[in-house]
Amino acid sequence: MNEKNTSVVAGATKENFRDEVLDGLSKSPRQLPYKFFYDQRGAQLFQEICDLPEYYITRTEIEILRLHGADMAKALGPQVELIGLGTGAGTKTRILLEELHNPAVYVPIDISKEQLERSSARFREMFPTLQVLPVCVDYLEPFELPLPRRLSSRSVIYFPGSTIGNFEPEIASEFLARLVDVAGDGGGLLIGVDLQKDRDVLERAYNDAAGVTAQFNKNLLVRINRELEADFDLNRWQHHAIYSPSEGRIEIYLISDNEQTVHIGAREFQFRAGEEILTEYSYKHTIAGFIELARQAGFHFEQVWTDDARWFGVFYFTVL
Ligand code: AVI
Repeated sequence: MNEKNTSVVAGATKENFRDEVLDGLSKSPRQLPYKFFYDQRGAQLFQEICDLPEYYITRTEIEILRLHGADMAKALGPQVELIGLGTGAGTKTRILLEELHNPAVYVPIDISKEQLERSSARFREMFPTLQVLPVCVDYLEPFELPLPRRLSSRSVIYFPGSTIGNFEPEIASEFLARLVDVAGDGGGLLIGVDLQKDRDVLERAYNDAAGVTAQFNKNLLVRINRELEADFDLNRWQHHAIYSPSEGRIEIYLISDNEQTVHIGAREFQFRAGEEILTEYSYKHTIAGFIELARQAGFHFEQVWTDDARWFGVFYFTVL
């Protein structure tokens, strides 16, 4: 039988959205927090990005799972409790669960209640012997795992999609250290990480010809207009993504076309022509660099699976 646990909704309140937007725009250089991309429209646009011909990330990770899923299952062992972080609709998790030997529990953790409910219902149907225990929280904040959970051999956190790439190294390191505690002694972490590669490939992936990434980026302004009584004129902002090889990251900006004034509630912001707002970093790691980052956080490296071109890696770490 599957116990249900649809718990608390957490996440961005309007107040902290406003505070973080005003704060970011008051900084020099200006920035907006990438975590606010994902309102309903943003989540939809991100799904479209995942299907773009230039955005190799999603299909490469899926290809790795299809090719090496059986091997991953062997490494993780039988009867695991899988803790899914931001696993969205669950396409990759489904492939993994199909390979795992007799998985005991699946704990999807997501900030979107609707998404979580939909995917949990699907997983209960697809895997009738699996205990599915969704937790609706922002996994960037400390969270508790639900109790009681069925006995399992080990807890393995599954964090696909290279979302870790959106964290600056210091934050990534703190976050990984927290995951060591969540996995616990004998636990593991299976994590998808985008790797460093040719600059053209990277820049094309974030400046797609159809302009979906541009819409995704500008949707942040649409959201600010709608939720914070602001008047960003979308026609006066350009999307731009550029790779910095020295930092090993894609940097995504909104660039002001002209000198302009924008109001957010009672606040007023002046922008110069060509002035940038940084909206996102997407770090690209080397295999050795990521192993070292995880090692410093307290994880022991076990294995990495990649595609032939070594564009993407799925790493498995354990807690000794
Ligand atoms: C969610 N994250 C891994 C995406 C990335 O590739 O950094 C977000 C994204 N931003 C623009 N395109 C995709």
